[in-house]
Amino acid sequence: MERNADKPKASDTKREAKAEPKAETEAEPKPQDNAAVATLLNTSLGDLVVAGLVKDPEDVARIIATAITQVQASIGAAKAPEAKAAEPKLETEVEPSPKAKPHVDKPRAPESKPTQEKVAKKTDVIHPKEGRAQGRDVQNRLDAKTQTPRAGVDHHGHIAAGAVVSVRGSVVDIRFDEHLPPIYSVLRAGDEGRIVIEVLAQLDARHVRGIALTPTQGLARGMAVEDTGGPLKAPVGKEVLSRMFDVFGNVIDREPALSDVQWRSVHRAPPPLARRSTKSEIFETGIKVIDVLMPLERGGKAGLFGGAGVGKTVLLTEMIHNMVGQHEGVSIFCGIGERCREGEELYRDMKAAGVLRNMVMVFGQMNEPPGARFRVGHAALTMAEYFRDDVHRDVLLLVDNIFRFIQAGMEVSGLMGQMPSRLGYQPTMGTELSRLEERIANTDTGAITSIQAVYVPADDFTDPAAVHTFSHLSASIVLSRKRASEGLFPAIDPLQSNSKMATPGIVGERHYGLAQEIRRTLAQYAELKDIIAMLGLEQLSREDRNVVARARRLERFLTQPFFTTKQFTGLEGKLVSLEDALDGCERILRDEFKDYQESALYMIGAIDEAKGKTKVAPPAAPPKPESKTEAKGDANPAAKSPTKSTPEPHPKSGTKPQPKVEHAADAHES
Ligand SMILES: Nc1ncnc2c1ncn2[C@@H]1O[C@H](COP(=O)(O)OP(=O)(O)O)[C@@H](O)[C@H]1O
Ligand SMILES: [Mg+2]
Repeated sequence: MERNADKPKASDTKREAKAEPKAETEAEPKPQDNAAVATLLNTSLGDLVVAGLVKDPEDVARIIATAITQVQASIGAAKAPEAKAAEPKLETEVEPSPKAKPHVDKPRAPESKPTQEKVAKKTDVIHPKEGRAQGRDVQNRLDAKTQTPRAGVDHHGHIAAGAVVSVRGSVVDIRFDEHLPPIYSVLRAGDEGRIVIEVLAQLDARHVRGIALTPTQGLARGMAVEDTGGPLKAPVGKEVLSRMFDVFGNVIDREPALSDVQWRSVHRAPPPLARRSTKSEIFETGIKVIDVLMPLERGGKAGLFGGAGVGKTVLLTEMIHNMVGQHEGVSIFCGIGERCREGEELYRDMKAAGVLRNMVMVFGQMNEPPGARFRVGHAALTMAEYFRDDVHRDVLLLVDNIFRFIQAGMEVSGLMGQMPSRLGYQPTMGTELSRLEERIANTDTGAITSIQAVYVPADDFTDPAAVHTFSHLSASIVLSRKRASEGLFPAIDPLQSNSKMATPGIVGERHYGLAQEIRRTLAQYAELKDIIAMLGLEQLSREDRNVVARARRLERFLTQPFFTTKQFTGLEGKLVSLEDALDGCERILRDEFKDYQESALYMIGAIDEAKGKTKVAPPAAPPKPESKTEAKGDANPAAKSPTKSTPEPHPKSGTKPQPKVEHAADAHES
């Protein structure tokens, strides 16, 4: 096709040159040269070359000369007339001497140029029209590349290039004729290699299938693909501190680019068993219910489980707020597939709190393609490993939300054509998750403590994603929608949550005993709830009624105002030491507060704050603290009455009105 298109032109030129030398004059300023050209038309090729070389001093002549020399080298003098005809044309269109090309190509084969041509023809995917244009694009790009060889040089020492065979959403099939890139290789295509593809499968000896980590808009069949010769990499080094990154390690905080960083593959093996270490140390969060009932492990993995909108992000942010300041190590926040806004807000908050200096943030939020969400966790972990292994610092790794990682894997798996497993999850979910989770480990050089939010689809805790995640964690904090709807924030369900640290050997006998008693009390209350709903509180035995009173006070005491929710609760955040929290629980269990209104214990810090609040319920007791507005109502009287507005508890009036309030509350509850 190309030849057909070009041939007429060639003969045109010939005719022009012969019949009207003036046409030439327009193109060439010197009439003398025209005359020479005319004369030369009658001479042999050799003469033409020599004459052209010697006579014309201009650049054009030089180009012509090289072209001719090349032609001469490969084809004989037999082709002279045609070459002659093509000559004037070469002045404008320098390189491609269409006729000679197929011949010329063979001898100087080392570049990928011919490969491209071959690929285009063999795969038969290039449209006759577009294909040509793209083919040329490919050549230009690759030629340009060859002059400045970059990372894309394969082990044979030349650019390994392929061509796109098919594009389906994020899945791209690419043909490579020379060297098939290994799994996890990163390929680049499009303008300035803007489209990044990670190889996930080798389909046959010539084809790989990859998943795009960027949108594939503009990617078309036949386009050239460059093998960068390595996997996805993340920047590591001291400079990454206080910065915000995307999955490719590009900075996204509008600050200057990094200058002094190393780039490391995001695919790394977990530390071998011999290098692992375990510490049994508690990681205090300043949040009462967590520290008392499900203490976190320094160097452990904790999960915050919950459906949508129960407060996972809020709790995680609060933990960051409480821990980052006092944590002497490095904190790395990884946002996977959640709202972009949250990342931006967190960044601003951390900056305002002045803790950004020891923080790194990596985001692959819900606007990113599945490939990016699938790899952003690995990128963050690579940075965490650097701080652990190279700098020997402890790392706090916060992930919101690890379910989105599983979900991204599911999307990738589906796109790759794998058969779905239970509930549509990928068959490789367990492997993928453990590859990531197993890297979060403690070694002799440092510990990675990780807190991960885990979205639970449809509040179903038997969902395979939740179940798989549970098994990796040393502490599971379960958030319940019921509690959230009652305004009992943080909405942690103490009976479903657990921590492997809650053993007497680690937390001590007193703490352990208290935690057990709290659980027992709360569990009894949970059992009694049905009876209360049907028969009323009055039907309970005196002992049971006491249990209910204690449990309800404990529940309220275990709520806590957060620093990060001040704007919508109107309450100042509270940080409570473990000692204060234990003390409070112990005193409630000893019935010290049974004469206080339940609401006196709601949303307070240490137990002594309750003393400043209204005491025992007079007959017109306020309704149950159900909502946030209620919380505000509670807070205000407390603020108005500086200290003890009422003296010590009245032992008499205590018992009678109380059950009524509780009964009402219970009826309402169920
Ligand atoms: N501790 C809390 N105190 C007050 N309100 C809270 C608290 N935790 C969560 N909420 C409320 O629940 C909403 C959803 O919380 P969020 O953490 O974004 O949910 P999730 O991340 O689980 O989807 C918040 O916007 C807030 O109104
Ligand atoms: Mg959230």
